[in-house]
Amino acid sequence: MNLVEKTEKTFALTTPLYYVNDVPHVGSAYTTIAADAVARFHRLLGHRVLLITGTDEHGQKIERSAESLGKAPQEFCDQIVPSFISLWELLNIQYDRFSRTTASSHEAIVKEFFERVWEKGDIYQGQQKGWYCVSCEEFKEERELLEGHRCPIHTNKEVEWRDEQNYFFRLSKYQRQLEEFYQSRPDFIQPGSRRNEVLSFVSQGLQDFSISRVNLEWGIPVPVDPKHTLYVWFDALLAYVTALLEPNSEATLANALETWWPINLHLIGKDILRFHAVYWPAMLMSADLPLPEKVFGHGFLTKDGQKMGKSQGNTLDPVRLVKSYGSDAVRYYFLKEIEFGKDGDFNEVRFINVLNADLANDLGNLLNRTLNMVKKYCTGDGVPIANEAINDENPLKAIGLSLGQEVKQAYEALAFNQACEAILMLVRTSNKFIDEQAPWSLYKLGKQQEVETVLYAVLESVRLAAYLLSPIIPNISSAIYQQLGFGIDFNDQIKTSMLAGFASHATWGVLTSTQSLGKPQPVFKRIETSKNH
Ligand code: MSP
Repeated sequence: MNLVEKTEKTFALTTPLYYVNDVPHVGSAYTTIAADAVARFHRLLGHRVLLITGTDEHGQKIERSAESLGKAPQEFCDQIVPSFISLWELLNIQYDRFSRTTASSHEAIVKEFFERVWEKGDIYQGQQKGWYCVSCEEFKEERELLEGHRCPIHTNKEVEWRDEQNYFFRLSKYQRQLEEFYQSRPDFIQPGSRRNEVLSFVSQGLQDFSISRVNLEWGIPVPVDPKHTLYVWFDALLAYVTALLEPNSEATLANALETWWPINLHLIGKDILRFHAVYWPAMLMSADLPLPEKVFGHGFLTKDGQKMGKSQGNTLDPVRLVKSYGSDAVRYYFLKEIEFGKDGDFNEVRFINVLNADLANDLGNLLNRTLNMVKKYCTGDGVPIANEAINDENPLKAIGLSLGQEVKQAYEALAFNQACEAILMLVRTSNKFIDEQAPWSLYKLGKQQEVETVLYAVLESVRLAAYLLSPIIPNISSAIYQQLGFGIDFNDQIKTSMLAGFASHATWGVLTSTQSLGKPQPVFKRIETSKNH
């Protein structure tokens, strides 16, 4: 490893590893879009990034899904996995690793990890009695259940009674250590409401949990007792570690942990918080490994105000959505319209209105008409004026000079909606500015320098907006950059990294007087429907 690589900041993040009992739903798309935006933002900062996603393929839920179609579990998984890969492609997700829990390297990592925890004396045999939800792959407390022994999350599914010999993990032993950890690292669980949930759960007293199953073949055999298979969650969480292996390196824990561990951010939905914020750190403590930096639990999506689900008959197919509206539109709506961490709703009329207002009108039209004015009112291919000629009182420059910092903080806090709002505020102010300044009238009055000042300020603001929005709408941002005369495609990681870092392009005043502007073309076409005039 050379010196540059050593000093470079790294950032590793994960999406959950999705169950393959079915093709991906919009919930999986939501987390993955957010993860990709975070990854792209860190790449803009010049960090070396590793975005991990993948699939969780063992356990009873998958075994039964395969069985119901008369397929062998592996064959069934192999048929579902490509639907995830192709959705990530459609959504323009730049992941670095795709971790499958059925990979042979994963089994080796799980065995080694299990042995460490076993040696520590943290695994023992016991009798497991309780209610199990196969859809959650989780035991439930009697008091959590709905009427008719139904699961509170999968409300149409009944839980099943289990009474069997299992291996247990000594979670209770880590109660104090976990509490001390949460105190010393107040940022570990985010947002704050989720942290409180976890603290309250832990303060009720932690119970050991079973980490093996008998009578279930579809899993990794327990190394000390192959009649058992490992509990799907014990296996799945470790696939985050497996994903860190370099493609050709031997599957050992030491190799996996060498470069990227500890992971900086686990992005998950709120339903799987306990696994990531309680079980996972305790497992790592037992294995004497450093803990991840942060777990962020986002909210749930509803459709037209209703819980989404097959039984409700109101699923939202992410593939149809992207094919109808494009990846940037879908990415933008979910990140701009929903506060990350809170529940949020999808409504197609609102979706179309937001896209038309923000992307087609406010941003796209602004660029288009300003570029046309440059062609009309200026000689040459660009605006023959430089940033230095524009004083700091210019309202767009005044906002633009501090915007980069504000947006950076919003991305760092995963407040995507705030990032978008702050950027849109510059765009809206630019629209107002150009209308008020009326460069067409200034031109008629022969005030050429004033015309150029207005056009420069607006174009530069559009450029800054495009740069700062590029983690969310990379295609539109690239189109804008190209029309502004930059040979930059935000989907091209190598070229983007040559932008000389966030500090230079995230500030106002980058456009130069020698910039050769491109042909004006709509960057986002207004969506026309019968409902939205
Ligand atoms: N396999 C486990 C994760 C193991 S990670 C080591 C799992 N998979 S899942 O496919 O069921 O869920 C994946 C993610 O989708 C979870 O983060 C969950 O919160 C999210 N969502 C499922 N339905 C959702 C919505 N309706 N809205 C938003 N996210 C939702 O759990």
